Amino acid sequence: MEIDLDNLRARSLPRGVATATTSLVASAKNARVIDTEGREFIDFAGGIGVMNVGHCHPRVLAAAHAQLERFAHTCVHVIGYESYIRLAARLNEKAPGRSPKRSYFVNSGAEAVENAVKVARSATGRPGIVAFENAFHGRTNLTMGLTSKISPYKKDFGPFTPEIYRIPYAYCYRCPLNLKYPGCGVECAELLRRGFENLFQPERIACVIAEPVQGEGGFIVPPPEYHARLKSICEEHGILFIADEVQTGLGRTGKLFAMEHYGVEADIMTTAKSLGAGYPIAGITGKVEIMDAPHPGGLGGTFGGNPLSCEVALVVLDIMEDERLPERALEIGRRVKERFTAMQRRFPQIGDVRGLGAMVGMELVTDPQTKEPATALTKAYRAKLFDNGLLNIIAGTYDNVVRTLMPLTIEWETLERGLDIMDETLAQVTAVR
Ligand SMILES: Cc1ncc(COP(=O)(O)O)c(C=O)c1O
Repeated sequence: MEIDLDNLRARSLPRGVATATTSLVASAKNARVIDTEGREFIDFAGGIGVMNVGHCHPRVLAAAHAQLERFAHTCVHVIGYESYIRLAARLNEKAPGRSPKRSYFVNSGAEAVENAVKVARSATGRPGIVAFENAFHGRTNLTMGLTSKISPYKKDFGPFTPEIYRIPYAYCYRCPLNLKYPGCGVECAELLRRGFENLFQPERIACVIAEPVQGEGGFIVPPPEYHARLKSICEEHGILFIADEVQTGLGRTGKLFAMEHYGVEADIMTTAKSLGAGYPIAGITGKVEIMDAPHPGGLGGTFGGNPLSCEVALVVLDIMEDERLPERALEIGRRVKERFTAMQRRFPQIGDVRGLGAMVGMELVTDPQTKEPATALTKAYRAKLFDNGLLNIIAGTYDNVVRTLMPLTIEWETLERGLDIMDETLAQVTAVR
């Protein structure tokens, strides 16, 4: 008997678990996804930035299969395994900066952020955290508190943890100080210092947490000097600087980690998403003296750094190097930006095109002068892109940023075809308005 899956979904899942489409995936290969009805999609979403090495990379499959045959789980706190140790050592070596590092593993980006804050509090003995407007750090209680956008992430889910303070980010298209780069002198970084006067006492702040490029907030790329300025203000006051590389990491921006573009060595860095190529794993990597602050037994969990994900993550790091994926990200980004910029000349609704490496977005507005967010248009565009065979997700506090997170292994013809679909589809949805 045929099961009506739409109906079963409606009767089985809470409405809070929203999906962009009712289609169901049957299989995926590199940058293509095929649904159960045989429809093929070009994947410009990558499972929200998870598939930097593409779906079902043969080396990932081989590593996963081999581990499946060996053992599934022992818990690293009971009896450990080589891949966990090797992965920590690899991340310590690859993390930006020269200070000796330590790493450990958990299961998701939110959990990594929770842990980074936990370590920062332990190392400093201070409670406070400074986060940014438009930030996204996850959906657990602490990370919802750090996240900026109210709906859908925080609405009705409080109370949130105390001692979280928020300052504006370097959002040049909508500058919080109404200035223009470079004449502005990156004055927005000084908003952290201003916070010391009227928002929070610096000696009570354990850490500042920043995404190198804001992801869910709308692919907001700060000026090159921004993070170094923040970091140096932090240093003046003994505040730790956490770089949340969950979305920007693993080659996406043209470097293995986006903070390399900014020349900043964070005190603690979080990674997740593409580290495991679809198998859940997240890392907390930081300077030795900070990471060693918590007492023995203070860090970890049952599933953190599960053996299959560790084996896969090691192979992901190899693939990054062997296939030069950060370099490929630069070329992907160049092509996407070129196309979006050409489209901007024809579509006044494209208010801004921005990005770093292959993390490129366009912000849609109803009028380039007022910059009024074109939220309805962006949602219609996303839906139509799906109808036209392209998987895509949107971002931004006003849900008006179209972002691209295609696998960095995408074939050039597939990339060009996907960009053609984006162009043709924007013509379709703007024509009916
Ligand atoms: C910068 C950043 N931090 C944390 C998270 C949360 O990761 P997860 O969904 O794996 O908990 C995300 C997810 O999008 C993210 O983009």
